[in-house]
Amino acid sequence: MNALNRQFELIRQSATVAMADRILALKASGQPIIGLQVGDPDFGTPPAVLAAASRALQAGLTHYGPSSGYLDLRQAIATKLQRDEGVVYDPASEILVTHGGIHAYYTALQAILNPGDEVLVPDPTWATHANMVVMLRGEAVRVPAPAEHGFIPPLEAWAQALTPKTRAIVLNYPSNPTGAYPTRDYLEQLQAFAEAHDLWVVSDEVYGSLYYGERPTSAAAVAGAKDRTLIVNSLSKTYAMTGWRVGFLAAPARVIANALKASQNSITCVAPFIQKAAAFALVDPEVQVATAQMRAAYTQRRALVLEIAREVGSTRVLVPPPMGAFYFFLDVRPLGRPSVEVCEGILEVAQVGLVPGSAFGEQGEGFVRMTIAASDADVGAGFRKILAWAEKEKA
Ligand SMILES: Cc1ncc(COP(=O)(O)O)c(C=O)c1O
Repeated sequence: MNALNRQFELIRQSATVAMADRILALKASGQPIIGLQVGDPDFGTPPAVLAAASRALQAGLTHYGPSSGYLDLRQAIATKLQRDEGVVYDPASEILVTHGGIHAYYTALQAILNPGDEVLVPDPTWATHANMVVMLRGEAVRVPAPAEHGFIPPLEAWAQALTPKTRAIVLNYPSNPTGAYPTRDYLEQLQAFAEAHDLWVVSDEVYGSLYYGERPTSAAAVAGAKDRTLIVNSLSKTYAMTGWRVGFLAAPARVIANALKASQNSITCVAPFIQKAAAFALVDPEVQVATAQMRAAYTQRRALVLEIAREVGSTRVLVPPPMGAFYFFLDVRPLGRPSVEVCEGILEVAQVGLVPGSAFGEQGEGFVRMTIAASDADVGAGFRKILAWAEKEKA
C-alpha cells in the first residue's frame, strides 16, 4: 500500500469537531439541541463591512492579489496594533495578511521551525497549537497551566520543560478555552526567560479585544520583546468575521520574509475583495462601535451566567468567571467523571452541546467548555439545563 504522512498518526481527531458533527447529526434528526460548543459569534458581520466587500467585488477585485496583502490593509493592521496594543510595526516589512488566525499561526511556525525542534505549548490550550507543531515535524512539549494557578503556567514550569532543542514558546491570551490572561509583570518575566534562552515567542492574540477587566497586554508590548515575538491575530472573533478567513502575522522582517514564502506557496493570497473589507473593518469608526456593542453583549451574557450560577448554587458545577474570550470553562470535577462522559450525558439528556475539557489537554480534564457566543436565550436556557442535569446525576 502507498505510504502516508506518518505525522498525522500523531494527531487525534479534534474532540471539538467530533462533538460538532454529533450535534449537527442530532439537530438534523429533529432534536432541539442548544449548541453551546462553537467559538463563532452569533452576531452578523457589521453591515458596513458587507458593503465594503460588495464595493470591492463590483470594482472587479476578483482576481489574484498581492501575497503579502494590499498595503492599505497592512497599514490598517499597523494602525490597529498601535491603537490597541501600543506596538509600532512597519506595514511594508513586518506584517503578512493571512487566511485567518490559524493560517497566521501556520506561517509563523513554518517561518521559524526546523524538524525536531521543540515548542513549549501551554496545557490546556486550543488543540491546533500543538497539532500544527506536530504537522511541521516538531515536538509539542506541554507545559502545565493548572486550574490552581489560574490556568497560567507557573514561570518555573516553562523552565522545567526547556531542553537544548527548545525553539519557541506559544502563548494564547485571553486563552481558548479558559479566558485567562497573565499580568504584564508575568509577561515581562517570561520574555526575559525567552531572551535568556534565545526562544521565539508565538503569541496567538485572536481574543485580545475580548476581556472583562483590564485590557490584556500584548506579548510584543513588553519592552525589548518585539524582536523575538510573532503576533498571530485575525478579524474572526472581534469583528464576527469567522467565515471571511482573514487574519495577520506581525513579526520581525526576517520572519515575515519566510512566512510570505510559506503563504505564497500554499494559498497564493487572501481573496482581494476580502482584504478590502478587512482594511475597512479595522479602521472604520462605525465598525469599532459595532464591535464595542458585541463586547457589551458578551459582558451581559457573562453576567447572566454568573447570576444563574449564584441563584442555583450548584455544588457539582463550579463556575469560575472568565477574564476574557467568550467561553466559560465549567469545573465539573465534583461529578468525578471524565469530561467526555459529562458532555455526552449533557448532550443526550439535557440536549446541550459542549466541548470536553480534555480536548484541550490533560489539565483540561474535569472541565467542560461552554460558549457565550450564542443568543442570550440559548445561553440562559442551556446553562440552566446543564445545572439541572448535574443535580440529578449521582456524584
Ligand atoms: C485560540 C484560537 N486561535 C486561532 C483560532 C482561529 O482563528 P481564525 O478563525 O481566525 O482562523 C481560534 C478559533 O477558534 C482560536 O480559538
